[in-house]
Amino acid sequence: MPKRTKILKKSSKVRLSSNPKMAKLTLGKEAYDFPIVVGTEMEKAIDISSLRLKTGYTTLDNGYANTGSCKSAITFIDGEKGVLRYRGIPVGQLAENSTFVETAYLLIYGKLPKKHQFEEFSKKFTIHAMIHEDMKNFFNGYPAWGHPMGILSAMVCSLSAYYPELEASEPKQREMGTIAVELISKVRTIAAFSYKKKIGEPFIYPRADLKFIPNFLNMMFSSSNTEYVIEDDVVEALQTLFILHADHEQNCGTSTVRMVGSSMANLFASVSAGICALWGPLHGGANQKVTEMLEKIHRSGGDVKKFIKKVKDRDSNTRLMGFGHRVYKNYDPRARIIKKRVDVLLKRLGIHDPLLEIAIKLEEAALKDDFFVSRKLYPNVDFYSGIIYNAIGIPVDMAPVMFAMARMPGWIAQWMEMRNSEVLRINRPRQVYIGEIKRDYVPMGKRK
Ligand code: CMC
Repeated sequence: MPKRTKILKKSSKVRLSSNPKMAKLTLGKEAYDFPIVVGTEMEKAIDISSLRLKTGYTTLDNGYANTGSCKSAITFIDGEKGVLRYRGIPVGQLAENSTFVETAYLLIYGKLPKKHQFEEFSKKFTIHAMIHEDMKNFFNGYPAWGHPMGILSAMVCSLSAYYPELEASEPKQREMGTIAVELISKVRTIAAFSYKKKIGEPFIYPRADLKFIPNFLNMMFSSSNTEYVIEDDVVEALQTLFILHADHEQNCGTSTVRMVGSSMANLFASVSAGICALWGPLHGGANQKVTEMLEKIHRSGGDVKKFIKKVKDRDSNTRLMGFGHRVYKNYDPRARIIKKRVDVLLKRLGIHDPLLEIAIKLEEAALKDDFFVSRKLYPNVDFYSGIIYNAIGIPVDMAPVMFAMARMPGWIAQWMEMRNSEVLRINRPRQVYIGEIKRDYVPMGKRK
């Protein structure tokens, strides 16, 4: 450990002062007041925006676990109680009654649409579904084994070259609704085209007579000589998954979108970065890893206890993928809904998936085990979603792409909120430097 690193212990403390609107920080003999900010759901935060100016100190918060990066009116999560709401509406109600397109409208405009607004909004998805024909050439440059998240991210960033008029550095809500639809709709087409390229089939173009999810399924699974039969059960299952993935406040991907957008980078560049962040196995890439984990357990005989033992052995460096969450310290409400959806879909399609049995056994074993119970590790959104994708025929490496497609409305709403915010500042965290202290350059021949 470098000599200069010190941890101040007893000389500093933060406590709530007798004034309920202020928190008092004592550093040695000095005391400083900082405002307390209370959200509409009574969440409390200490506003430390003036901390460095007043005290010369910064904060250190690894992984930003205690840091509120913004005020937001989009999504509310109570991780202790397992609550998730978009614009105040419980996600369970939306999953039960809404559609992905209506939920996208809700996230972007902040309210549910009236009938004519919804119709106008939906129509735009058809109008803007095509990507510039020249962009099709990009797909030829990727090898068949290229991961579709890398392709999606590059293609979304490339949209900025083809649609510079949409770069909109001064977003206005009305224009942004159309830009949002363009992006969501084009991402769906890009995702389906990347799959077609991978399997070596000609692209299937979006159709004007199909709604959002059926259109996607048709582009994925129809071919020049066979028409894919779109089943309502499949559409409903995807509808549920898309609604549940549509936003999740300031997670790694969304914070990345805001971070990039805070430099006034355009929406496409910001979302492209969000796709890369989401790709990671600790985040949206976990759905792919869950399926791979279940397949591995299945191939080696299905011994769930042996796998749980391995996860508990810290030297094995193995995690139970699809379990645990930074914010939920209770069952992820999305996982509960998805688990029910899996049952319904598999029964209706008459599919017996041995991976589902393994997943259920893993969940039962983990929820009885003190290792998981004491750490409050429950199934998250990624634990059961892969089983739905498998049942539909969506390949395992496309699972994070499905997540990214569904997350578009949330990212766009968050980007817009950030850019319209009164306190728009470039996001620029500080650090505590722990490297070498000043030393002189030594010419090469004299170095020891
Ligand atoms: N399996 C085994 N142990 C775990 C797991 C897991 N899935 N998750 C957390 N832990 C342990 C961790 O080792 C640590 O133990 P200890 O205190 O003994 O060191 C403790 O639980 C706290 O974990 P953490 O890593 O400090 O928690 P975090 O808030 O930094 O990480 C997480 C959250 C989601 C990255 C983590 O739970 C994880 O890696 N889960 C598996 C990957 C996964 O399913 N990710 C999807 C998350 S939901 C979708 C999304 O992000 O969008």
